[in-house]
Amino acid sequence: MKIGTLVLDNNLVMAPLSGISNLPFRLLARGMGCALVCSEMVSAHGLIQRSEKTEKMLCSDPKEKPLSIQIFGADPDIMAEAARIVESKGASILDINFGCSVKKVIKTGAGAALMKTPKKVEALIKAVRKSITIPLTVKMRSGWDRSGDQALRIAEIADACGVDAVIVHPRVATQGFGGTADWSIIEKIKTAISVPVIGNGDIKGAADAILMQNTTGCDGIMIGRGAIGNPWLFSQILSCFRDGEIPSVSLDQRFEMMKQYVDSTIRCQGEKRGCHMMRSRLGWFVKGLPGSNKFRESIKRIASEDETIHLIKSYLNDLQKVSVQNPTATP
Ligand SMILES: Cc1cc2nc3c(=O)[nH]c(=O)nc-3n(C[C@H](O)[C@H](O)[C@H](O)COP(=O)(O)O)c2cc1C
Repeated sequence: MKIGTLVLDNNLVMAPLSGISNLPFRLLARGMGCALVCSEMVSAHGLIQRSEKTEKMLCSDPKEKPLSIQIFGADPDIMAEAARIVESKGASILDINFGCSVKKVIKTGAGAALMKTPKKVEALIKAVRKSITIPLTVKMRSGWDRSGDQALRIAEIADACGVDAVIVHPRVATQGFGGTADWSIIEKIKTAISVPVIGNGDIKGAADAILMQNTTGCDGIMIGRGAIGNPWLFSQILSCFRDGEIPSVSLDQRFEMMKQYVDSTIRCQGEKRGCHMMRSRLGWFVKGLPGSNKFRESIKRIASEDETIHLIKSYLNDLQKVSVQNPTATP
């Protein structure tokens, strides 16, 4: 897939996930073959005020490139200035958020609230487009509500204003993440605009990815929740596209990945904060395994890297004993 001048290795993209898709998380996704990773949404206001916390969100590493940084805001001048900052920090792509339905964001007129006001969208995209030279994308929902073809209208505006790709998560804002994504809207937009369309929503396995591509004709596929604790989803989809096979994930691979995640989180956040983050996040990787509740309980108070690695290894040991004693058990 090509986004503007950027040629990607394949058409799989890791979705922006606020509070989740930080550098360590993105490195896992890239390691499993996804061609493009996205930052969590970053406040344009925070960026231009040089807020330390906001600037930290731009923290990156050459190994994860290409990286798309997503910004949100409603003021064209502030968004244009924030986009310039993002470009100067080395982002490969700038993405604008037209999809966030969190109250705190929409009450400022940003995120999905913009889908109600096409004129504002136009002014905003034009201002940002003028301010940067890197490829520009927009990520939208299917609309604010079900009153009409809001996504189609916004996609046509975006195309006319010079964006390089449009990402569509076809749920309306009032839906949050409930119900199902209406992929027919991705197809509708794909047939109406000239730039690549990246479809998003409800990809949980390789079969979903193939179905989305075949039924909508989308150029790219973006995956969010399905890859949380399961970055192998990317390699499985790629393998399925290539030769129809879906390789399984061994226990050793799973636990190696957890150790890698601990290591890069601690290097990125420091030991104290890193361990704190791991208290809930390691649980993502053991969903459905025997004894996972006990493991989750055991990591609730981890405070050092050594302790964390020890608990991971001892849980793996326990699981290996189970499978030796009962080889038919599926850990
Ligand atoms: C916890 C969480 C955080 C999210 N944060 C963002 C965000 O920062 N920016 C954004 O555009 N979408 C965000 N989304 C939406 C996802 O990028 C994606 O559009 C949505 O989850 C549907 O895709 P999926 O079914 O593959 O998860 C978030 C979703 C979740 C569940």
